Amino acid sequence: MYGKDLLSIADFGREELERVIETALAMKRGDFGAPLAGRTLALLFEKPSLRTRVSFDVGMAQLGGHTIYLSQAEVGLGMREPTGDVARVLDRYVDVIAARTFTHETVEELARYARVPVINALSDREHPCQALADLLTIREKKGTLRGVRIAYLGDGNNVARSLALGAVALGAEFAIASPAGFGLADIAGIRNAEGPEDAVRGADVVYTDVWTSMGQEAETGLRREVFAPYQVTAALMAVASPDAVFMHDLPAHRGEEVVPDVIDGPQSVIYDQAENRLHAQKAVLALLLGAEG
Ligand code: CP
Ligand code: NVA
Repeated sequence: MYGKDLLSIADFGREELERVIETALAMKRGDFGAPLAGRTLALLFEKPSLRTRVSFDVGMAQLGGHTIYLSQAEVGLGMREPTGDVARVLDRYVDVIAARTFTHETVEELARYARVPVINALSDREHPCQALADLLTIREKKGTLRGVRIAYLGDGNNVARSLALGAVALGAEFAIASPAGFGLADIAGIRNAEGPEDAVRGADVVYTDVWTSMGQEAETGLRREVFAPYQVTAALMAVASPDAVFMHDLPAHRGEEVVPDVIDGPQSVIYDQAENRLHAQKAVLALLLGAEG
């Protein structure tokens, strides 16, 4: 995995995904030194973030390295200067770049020009770092990924796409229920359910995300109407397996995609999931920089 980019979760094959998860589990046990001493990560973010920014920054520090946060207001990716120039200058200073962009093409362009690994820290198309943390969480909660039944409700967005691709690669079952036109039409191996109950029946994991992603704010009103039947409620959770967990990448909008009783209830594992961003990304950083020890 040394030197690779992580733009899509599909950039990692099954064995690589398993290696990330095993490395993350070892790191979570505290099994790491300072393999990234003297290395620098640039965080190039066009959109806001809590989890991704903090977990990359803290993770890099825990591995002995250093992070520089660069907002769009400072860098002006594609505005103050061309994206290709930003990539070719940054790679003279830093060892790895994590970029959060509006369009997926921007993170691809960074990767095309940068000689150092580029990690997609969320684009409009994928959120591979989230999916790695989600897969790690499911592995911890269910003991395996093979055969685990994941039900995703709502928008077939960046989070859904990366989770679906990663889940299928690792032998989990992935069913999605979305309004017409908002699904994941182009992913092999997933099941497009007839509706929320059909997706969730017997599921081991019930997952949802916001109805309006960053950059789609103009559609908020329309989306609230279209997605209303896909809200995760206690009644819907009752259709899942009795030991099903509820997952959400956060930030969440309580009362929209999920009711408070579920997201704040005993089946919810959202904060374990958020913590796992740290462990999964530490594994990715070490593996891409050839320093997993
Ligand atoms: N889940 C996630 O990526 O959160 P942030 O947008 O806060 O980084
Ligand atoms: N789908 C959401 C995820 C946020 C972490 C968005 O893109 O805004």
